[in-house]
Amino acid sequence: MCGIVGYVGHRAAQPVLVNCLKRLEYRGYDSCGIALLGKDVEIYKDAIRIEALEKKLRPHINKAGIGHTRWATHGKPSQGNAHPHADCTGKIAVVHNGVIDNYLALREKLTQEGHKFRSDTDTEVIPHLIEKYFQGDLQEAVSKAIGDMSGSYAFVAIHSDWDGMVVARNESPLILGVGDKENLVASDVPAVLDYTDRVIYLEDGDIGVVTGDGVRCFRNGKQIDREVHRIPWSIEEAQKGGYAHFMIKEIHEQPRVIRNTYKGYISALEPVVNLGIRKDAGINDILFIACGTSYYAALVGQQVIQSLTQIPVRVEIASEFNYSDTVLGRTWVIVITQSGETADVMRALKKAKEVGCRTLAITNVVGSSATRLADETLYITAGPEICVAATKSFIAQLTMLYLMGLAWASGDIRSRVSMATELRQLPDKVQQLIDREEEIAAFGKYLAKYENVFFVGRGLNYPVALEGALKLKEISYIHAEGYPAGELKHGPFALLTPKTPVVAIAARDNTYDTLMANIKEIKARESPVLAIAEEGDIEIEKYVDFAVRVPKVSPIFSPIVNAVALQLLAYYTAKERGCSIDTPRNLAKSVTVE
Ligand code: G6P
Repeated sequence: MCGIVGYVGHRAAQPVLVNCLKRLEYRGYDSCGIALLGKDVEIYKDAIRIEALEKKLRPHINKAGIGHTRWATHGKPSQGNAHPHADCTGKIAVVHNGVIDNYLALREKLTQEGHKFRSDTDTEVIPHLIEKYFQGDLQEAVSKAIGDMSGSYAFVAIHSDWDGMVVARNESPLILGVGDKENLVASDVPAVLDYTDRVIYLEDGDIGVVTGDGVRCFRNGKQIDREVHRIPWSIEEAQKGGYAHFMIKEIHEQPRVIRNTYKGYISALEPVVNLGIRKDAGINDILFIACGTSYYAALVGQQVIQSLTQIPVRVEIASEFNYSDTVLGRTWVIVITQSGETADVMRALKKAKEVGCRTLAITNVVGSSATRLADETLYITAGPEICVAATKSFIAQLTMLYLMGLAWASGDIRSRVSMATELRQLPDKVQQLIDREEEIAAFGKYLAKYENVFFVGRGLNYPVALEGALKLKEISYIHAEGYPAGELKHGPFALLTPKTPVVAIAARDNTYDTLMANIKEIKARESPVLAIAEEGDIEIEKYVDFAVRVPKVSPIFSPIVNAVALQLLAYYTAKERGCSIDTPRNLAKSVTVE
């Protein structure tokens, strides 16, 4: 999704803006640009990578400016559609994330009033509206402009007759970075971490005025106080640290991420889980709502929590829930969202709150929108996840879902204690698997030559098959589909040939024997089968062509090791194909439009 940055302070703004934009690259973009504030506003932009834009810039000493990475929604990627956008006078520049719903009507009206438009974007109405209302006070002009606009926006405006920046937010993320004699604006925390770890999250309807001396927040024309959060992430965590890609770095971080996520909830002396959040006796059922990888984590969580707590659990994709008539009675609505900003999830959370449901957010980002809206929050503490394809946040979400199951379990205390003890051993198991990544890399090289791959699993590992297929398609561009192993015969069999390998997740649980029968059916269609199988499982060799070995864990925890094996498989397949692993084409890390 579009990335926004802004800087005002004691340094030359241009290199700061370029640096901040590079920190936002992971969000995905097709064009980029910056505007520098001086006697005039100077704009440099194009449908190119940030490094290429940087080469075109001439040195500037201006101390303020704004920047943008665009992810096209209205109008194709091009120089004209790239941000910043200017007004007719060339004194105003704006960068924006979101969608202005009534932009066509505004554009028509402004055109009749003499404004000339140069792009196909919805954004361009903003600088023209500001121009229309500007009478020496940029804050007032922005305030009047947003009165005319409907839709979602986070934008930053500069004017060459005004010191600093004015920002506004409605339904799109925007933070202010509070530094020492310098202040920043960004759509996401990693952009500002080089300069400060103190951030303010703006709320919908807020206007911010940012100068080198300070930041001020306003609501309905009145100045208000907004809490300054200290972000517990270091800049090193948001850097590659010698790895070829963020994805492989983040896969390697997973043992620590599991530990960080359970730490604080499981006592070392007596391994019982205390989340500090109680399951309310008045709750009839749980509804998980999420998108993408977080949705697959929810599908695993559904089975884990249902089996441990006997509470009925439903799962919905946020974008579907928003248009459905799902019955919400005494339902506990739990959203799972790494970023805490996904627009569909935020809309679902609002809908659940409106009908009076108790709400909980499971997220990775301190102070994100979901945490401010939900009644309660559980943090997964995965640290900044930069690669567009989620890895460590998925494993941390699974860890949190196991903790929830254990905390609210109704069964025998001894089995809960032994599960909690095993949970604490998972980091070592995942490390053992990562230590053997060379073997998995060889299987990645093998898969790289195919164009279609199926992933199958059963029970708890069916969602893991979905996640494995998602990882592979996202980063290697191989067409991949995840299926419950028993469903292949209801359609996909028609596609099975020696050129369509099948990755089968063979967990040693009550689904194992049926899965072997499914594998035989697949082999009868001559598809090569690569199993993800437990160490010591000799039986599997009778059925499959190859096996990736994962450490032995109890079946309930098998999604963790199997998912890590599939992440490594996808990574090495994509690497063999020379793909842009951290920033796959057309994808965005944080999807802030519906
Ligand atoms: C995007 C990302 C995925 C992520 C999904 C949901 O599609 O590329 O990696 O799983 O959004 O994001 P969330 O932040 O809500 O978990």
